[in-house]
Amino acid sequence: MGNLTVSQDNITDNNMDKSADKSADKSVDKSAATSMATTDISLQLNEIVQEYANADGPVTRVIDGISLSFDKPTINMLLGPSGCGKSTLLHMMGGVRPFGVQSPTSGSVHINGEACDGPHDDAVMVFQRYANRPDLTVYENVAFPFRLGLWKKKFPEAEWKKRVDDILEAVGLTDKKNLSSAQLSGGQNQRVALARALVLRPRILLMDEPFGALDAQTREEMQQLLITLHKTSPCLIVFVTHDVTEALLLGDRVIVLSTQPAKIADDFEITESRPRSAVWQRSTEAVTMQERVLSQLHKFSAGRGTLRVTI
Ligand SMILES: Nc1ncnc2c1ncn2[C@@H]1O[C@H](COP(=O)(O)OP(=O)(O)O)[C@@H](O)[C@H]1O
Ligand SMILES: [Mg+2]
Repeated sequence: MGNLTVSQDNITDNNMDKSADKSADKSVDKSAATSMATTDISLQLNEIVQEYANADGPVTRVIDGISLSFDKPTINMLLGPSGCGKSTLLHMMGGVRPFGVQSPTSGSVHINGEACDGPHDDAVMVFQRYANRPDLTVYENVAFPFRLGLWKKKFPEAEWKKRVDDILEAVGLTDKKNLSSAQLSGGQNQRVALARALVLRPRILLMDEPFGALDAQTREEMQQLLITLHKTSPCLIVFVTHDVTEALLLGDRVIVLSTQPAKIADDFEITESRPRSAVWQRSTEAVTMQERVLSQLHKFSAGRGTLRVTI
């Protein structure tokens, strides 16, 4: 199965030439359709080190020995100072490697117990820049993965059309399906991007500040939508944000990175059920967590980047 990267600049199938035999053993019936609702997923990062070469001196170590393990379809929030290596780490989780750089420098990523050293079937990424094609309608943008390589072979037309209809309904875009993405607001475009990722029913959804460019009200709507979609169809989400409020609203787990090089500065769970009420957000528990995250971020940020708190 091809890993769909909704990249910064366009939509690409990273793995169009992967052999069809790998996908053939995964059925495309209703059991596959509900597979993301199972708890059968594990993502492990083992002693990840990332170094980048400098033109004029020694290498820079950006990530220093990070190990993380995820084994349930939970929402995991990743925070850290700007430039600390969050995107680098998230890309690694999906097997997406920067061009011309060994990544990771050392350490390994395992998905479902298997080493992941390239784009992976089960992992789909969503970015802040949603990369919808303006020359395609909403429907065509969401259906785009099924025009690509292995996804095309994997799904009969009736199956993918049903999936597209279902996800358009779930994200509230059915009545916009014939519009071009240029006719949509930022929030609606981000719904399209989310729909294009979820139409593949990934077991791992990697989100890199997906709502970071949206206005406050639209961001809240998207957060609620994500909560609803995750409840209906759970998958393992790793979600990078610089918004502490977002982390506390969405996360089952909050991981905070330090910087230069990045290590794990904090890692804790939130057991409050979602959606989380305004009362909970003002509770001692929530405020203590917020201060806990902020104190770590302030320690390492040294004035760099933007922190957002809306509580
Ligand atoms: N391909 C690359 N080559 C060299 N340096 C890189 C490359 N990708 C990222 N970096 C550097 O690694 C650091 C972490 O980047 P990134 O993961 O994008 O941070 P974040 O997402 O936390 O803001 C930054 O200093 C960035 O300049
Ligand atoms: Mg980033």
